[in-house]
Amino acid sequence: MASLNPDDAKRLAAAKALELVKPGMRLGLGTGTTAAHFVDLLGAKVAEGLDVRCVPTSERTRTQAASFQIPLTTLDEMPQLDLTVDGADEFDPHLRLIKGGGGAHLREKIVACASERLVIITDASKAVQTLGKFPLPVEINVFGNEATRQMIQRVASACSCEGEVKFRLNPSGHPFVTDNGHYIVDCFFGAIPDPEKLSCALLEIPGVIEHGLFLGLAKAVICAGPEGIEIFGQID
Ligand code: A5P
Repeated sequence: MASLNPDDAKRLAAAKALELVKPGMRLGLGTGTTAAHFVDLLGAKVAEGLDVRCVPTSERTRTQAASFQIPLTTLDEMPQLDLTVDGADEFDPHLRLIKGGGGAHLREKIVACASERLVIITDASKAVQTLGKFPLPVEINVFGNEATRQMIQRVASACSCEGEVKFRLNPSGHPFVTDNGHYIVDCFFGAIPDPEKLSCALLEIPGVIEHGLFLGLAKAVICAGPEGIEIFGQID
């Protein structure tokens, strides 16, 4: 197990999560490199005859799942899900998460909240004691975006979170636009001493659509590292 590289670890965690999938389940499909392993493995099961219906959390995941003929639907047609499997950018000992490194956290949170269970799959590099080393993504409305950015900075400072709040840019230098047509700012706080307080404060800002703090949502984290699989929380 010592030679397990991060990508192999992600796939191992995805394979473990696949064991939770039962015929007839309504699934949420996460976004990112780890979730992509899950979609890949699920696709193989579907090809063997597994019957599931799935809601993707991004256009990227929709395209990938469709390429495997995984049956897809929407939350409008299927508003309640049994299980969502997704990745994370960070998780702490309370299973609080930072997500949105791929810019999909709004749909990911909507899908997670519609699910009976959110199970996170990660490699060991995502485990932290204190959230915030990974820049916190915040999806914001395009209208008034600079005013919103500055408001985020002020509100965060009042929550003891200091650091740059920067627009996410594409390689072309233009603002990154989410699947929902919004911008993202990344907050380089280093540490978020009180995630619940920061969450409430950010959501008070009218231009904020959703932030990447997932608090009280994950039921379990399946974490694969050099020692193998470690499960935090309740897997079933
Ligand atoms: C997508 O917006 C994110 O929330 C991802 O779930 C998160 O960034 C984890 O991505 P990786 O699995 O690629 O690290």
